[in-house]
Amino acid sequence: MKHEIQETNLGFESGFISRRQKEKLNKQKAFVIWLTGLSGAGKSTIARNLEASLFENGIRTLILDGDNTRMTINHDLDFSAEGRHENIRRVAEIAKLLNDAGVVVITAFISPFREDRIMAREMIGEDCFIEVFVDTPLELCIQRDTKGLYKKALKGGLKDFTGISSPYDLPEKPDIHVETKGCAPEETVQQIVDWLSKEKLIGQVKL
Ligand code: ADX
Repeated sequence: MKHEIQETNLGFESGFISRRQKEKLNKQKAFVIWLTGLSGAGKSTIARNLEASLFENGIRTLILDGDNTRMTINHDLDFSAEGRHENIRRVAEIAKLLNDAGVVVITAFISPFREDRIMAREMIGEDCFIEVFVDTPLELCIQRDTKGLYKKALKGGLKDFTGISSPYDLPEKPDIHVETKGCAPEETVQQIVDWLSKEKLIGQVKL
């Protein structure tokens, strides 16, 4: 890494104001809630509800969502393993920048590959990366099929579709494991909020 920086004659410039100072100004700790799960598992719904709940608690947030970012900054990427890897790498970089500004980030990406999630954790930092496995059985996602994509994929009309023609590596030790089957989004959000309070990331935080 050092070598690369020397070769390109680039170096990181830091500002005068530290992340800690910005967190203090915002009266909050910055971290990333990384939602991972199948397409249609409920990640975006949980992200939106979680953001609303944190907002009520005076917490500044930003959602990064797969569908949105793939229509904007990541519109050049496909769903191959390389495309997904680059998708996650860029999102992790953006999330880290937002954390550096003292903002809480909620991401909603399938992020199906374990090694990409590990990369994101390493980039963002162990202490502020909270992996949440949004666990919804594939059969239920197929049944819901809110975007009609499973139908297409099952007919063979969609290449590399997660769960059908592309793998999803189950999280081995997620920080939070939520099972959405028979569970209202509000309950799932409460589970996450309770965990964040217990870990003193929100509420009684030490800044
Ligand atoms: S990720 O695998 O790279 O993390 P991401 O979360 O950004 O995926 O995008 C997933 C969304 O893209 C899905 O919710 C779905 O709406 C859409 N999509 C389109 N094609 C595919 C595909 N082949 N596999 C998965 N999702 C797809």
